[in-house]
Amino acid sequence: MQKLFSGVQPSGNLHIGNYLGAVKQWVTLQEQAESIFCVVDLHAITVPQDPEVLRKKTLEIAKIYLASGIDPTKSTLFVQSHVAAHSELAWILNTVARMGDLDKMTQYKDKSQKEGETTSIGLYDYPVLMAADILLYDTEVVPVGDDQLQHIELARTLARRFNERFGETFVVPEGRIQKEGARIMGLDDPTKKMSKSAPSEYNYISLTDDEATVLRKIKKAVTDSGTDITYSDDLSDAEASRPALRNLINIYSLFSRKTPGEIVEMYAGKGYGDFKVDLAAVISGFLTPFQERLASISDEEVKAILEAGAVKARAQAEAKMKQVRERVGLL
Ligand code: AMP
Ligand code: TRP
Repeated sequence: MQKLFSGVQPSGNLHIGNYLGAVKQWVTLQEQAESIFCVVDLHAITVPQDPEVLRKKTLEIAKIYLASGIDPTKSTLFVQSHVAAHSELAWILNTVARMGDLDKMTQYKDKSQKEGETTSIGLYDYPVLMAADILLYDTEVVPVGDDQLQHIELARTLARRFNERFGETFVVPEGRIQKEGARIMGLDDPTKKMSKSAPSEYNYISLTDDEATVLRKIKKAVTDSGTDITYSDDLSDAEASRPALRNLINIYSLFSRKTPGEIVEMYAGKGYGDFKVDLAAVISGFLTPFQERLASISDEEVKAILEAGAVKARAQAEAKMKQVRERVGLL
């Protein structure tokens, strides 16, 4: 079986874009690959976090994975900071990574601009820690959003460079961009990805939004000019492709298992009003039972699952670290 690793930061609110673009597909992938899913708290602290909130979010993300269908008997689910080898390998990889590798990282450039003078070394080093996450487990595939490809490229570079210098040690991993739902766009701005750090809550639907909130947000979602429901694949023509409507139809489609074509047919002769009310119902039709599952998972239960996951991950990571220390010449 292929080895798969992915992670999500416990910061901000997970939204339907995260679910459709990542978690939903992990649930399918765990049947086909030996999968590890990690809550990357050490990545989260590269920008300031409130300690109490961070602890709560870490548990919440793990519960969201479980409520989504990640099965701890099939996959390993754990918290990054519970396996010290991640930090240790990151340090060693720091001695292999070059300033030039990190200077070109676009996510760092964006984020450091926001942080200004308070930008931490951790933020700069973030991609090296991510490489450590991936390389520790002989990962072959890393399912991620397209914004993470540059980081995966670094993991590949560091694996190759380490192997050349010290002998075959790491598997060179491959990124895998999810096809369906790879990009759910903001409800208030269909030219940008739906994002948990968006300034307005009208950008996203959080996985914890109730029915009334979903309806309010969908009603406020921007639409293109025109009144009928159409869907075009011609993205070169912004007018014809109607990106705002296209995004809403994509969301409808992913939550209802109807194709965009079927949805367009259902709304022939109807306007945005009917479409939006139904779309909100389709989203809540997923969210309501999801939230019930989420609420039924206790803190104790999730902590036990994370601890068992850490035990499994530690054993694998420690075996790899033994090899790494020896190769590098640590006594
Ligand atoms: P992030 O929120 O950037 O930590 O992303 C966590 C995961 O969610 C990434 O692997 C992305 O694939 C996915 N993701 C985030 N935002 C979106 C979006 N708007 N559409 C689709 N997938 C997304
Ligand atoms: N940087 C990733 C993101 O923001 C999260 C992440 C950390 C990750 N370590 C990883 C993803 C290892 C995949 C593999 O989405």
